[in-house]
Amino acid sequence: MKLPSFRTLFPAVTLCLSTTLLLTACEQQKTATRLPAKAAVLDIDRVVNYYDINHPVIGRKGMVVSQSEIASNIGAEILQRGGNAVDAAVAVGFALAVVLPRAGNLTGGGFMLVHLQELNKTIAIDYREMAPLAAVEHMFIDSKGDVDNDKALETLAAAGVPGTVAGFEYALENYGTMTLKQLIKPALEIAQQGFVVNDDMVRIVKKTQTLLQQNNETCRVFFKQGCQPYQTGELFKQPDLATTLQYLSEEGADGFYQGDIAKKIVLAMEQGQGLITIEDLRRYQVKELAPIKGHFNGYEILTMPPPSSGGVHLVQMLNMLEQLPIENIAQGSASMMHLQTEIFKRAYVDRSKHLGDPDFVDVPAKGIVSKTYAKKLSQHISHEKITPSSQIKPGEPSGYESPDTTHFSVIDKQGNIVSNTYTLNHYYGSGITIPGTGLLMNNTMDDFSAKVGSPNSYGLVGGKANAIVAQKRPLSSMTPTIVLKSGQPFLATGTPGGSKIITSVFQQLVNILWFDMNVSEATNAPRIHHQWQPDILYVEQNVAADSIALLQQMGYQIELSTSLGSLQTIMLKDGIYYGAADPRRPNAKAVAVN
Ligand code: DON
Repeated sequence: MKLPSFRTLFPAVTLCLSTTLLLTACEQQKTATRLPAKAAVLDIDRVVNYYDINHPVIGRKGMVVSQSEIASNIGAEILQRGGNAVDAAVAVGFALAVVLPRAGNLTGGGFMLVHLQELNKTIAIDYREMAPLAAVEHMFIDSKGDVDNDKALETLAAAGVPGTVAGFEYALENYGTMTLKQLIKPALEIAQQGFVVNDDMVRIVKKTQTLLQQNNETCRVFFKQGCQPYQTGELFKQPDLATTLQYLSEEGADGFYQGDIAKKIVLAMEQGQGLITIEDLRRYQVKELAPIKGHFNGYEILTMPPPSSGGVHLVQMLNMLEQLPIENIAQGSASMMHLQTEIFKRAYVDRSKHLGDPDFVDVPAKGIVSKTYAKKLSQHISHEKITPSSQIKPGEPSGYESPDTTHFSVIDKQGNIVSNTYTLNHYYGSGITIPGTGLLMNNTMDDFSAKVGSPNSYGLVGGKANAIVAQKRPLSSMTPTIVLKSGQPFLATGTPGGSKIITSVFQQLVNILWFDMNVSEATNAPRIHHQWQPDILYVEQNVAADSIALLQQMGYQIELSTSLGSLQTIMLKDGIYYGAADPRRPNAKAVAVN
């Protein structure tokens, strides 16, 4: 059943205020839309502890957290102007395509979770890329039978049919209140006038330079004359992207999927061995899905269903944790890290066998998230002993039914929430720019299992369930998540990080919902990661050395990891908004609306 849009809902809200005729419906609506407490005069000592080491950003009427200060400011401005969380999210999404071009995008895809406080309902919008009609299972296997990683990552054949523009338009038309033109405008202005390049951008361009410089159009658009990289402090303008944004603000998604942009994409595909045709673009469809639901420590967890594996395994892991006697185990201790690792391995082994696009394979999502299954899986977790990955096999849940990505979270003054993760897959996707558009193509086809049992670029081993098939969506780990407490909005979070996304979101939830840390402390706390294969426990540099020593004594093979994830989190408690941008990536920013 299609939900009433916000535009049709607003008159009903007005009616509630002006008449008593619809008393029952209005009473229900008022309960569902309980607004945050009035916080005009705020006793700041009640809200935050002055002596905490990590301080969240505090807001009274809303919050936007993203990986770019410019984009967060744009979202906050939309909220200030009366836009709702979906309006702000769409504006942030377009802005990130301009100011964070390595991950923010119009030519990738992602997942958006929307909580509609007025309707007391949460929906999941799937705008993941799809395999083109001409895609076949062994398209990335070379003559020796090995996976051709260059083809799977650095060519136009690596591109899935993009979903972002359709996804944003869908969200806006159904749940927003402003026009696409209004929300594209800030991004368009930055593309036209340029923004000042920062160290972060210079560093990532340098990391990816070899790939980017292989493509003449990428050189022309993202570099200076002679394919020289921009330096910190220089102004970076994107006139082609500005033209594209102007066109989209007039033509909408039809312009992308059937109009001039479609034609340019297809021309580039024909000239560069890509598979995407006009028919692929025309057929692209956004899906509205029911979120995966779970319960943990009195909170309701709402998260992304397949074709992301994130939500299913997040809930599975929380269920397993709940089975273990952890009352006296400290946050960040070696014991806690050990138990979490045992849980991670059991979830990721299931991912390798059971997860794929549910339109093509039976995914036992209900079975995996069931409490009974978690009980069975956690029975053999010992507090003292490691279960080696080689001894952990996929379970039998019952009942069938370098990357870079970026996450942003928005909560508005009505308590509506958007938790959105989207991606080109790797930094700058395939590195190939579609001539004349300023748009970089994704390389998300690598998220399929190109060959059963062979790890992809995140080291994830996949099975037949995630094999390439025309029109299928590749399995993802993206885990945009929303938490409710007694039916009221409580938390929005998510992160980039490829295979490390699910474990990062899990640790964030455990830190906040179990250890009661403030959002900033929770975000900054060191993280670990294990994904069953390889049998290695990855720890961040700031995990305590004595904990690492204890884990090594237990027999863990440990590798110090680069930072894990970049969580953008908002908590809403007693009418106060607490925002935390992850310090792991520079320039991320929580911007409050007061
Ligand atoms: O969908 C996925 O799981 C990956 N394409 C996400 C990539 C990612 O998070 C890279 N970020 N660091």
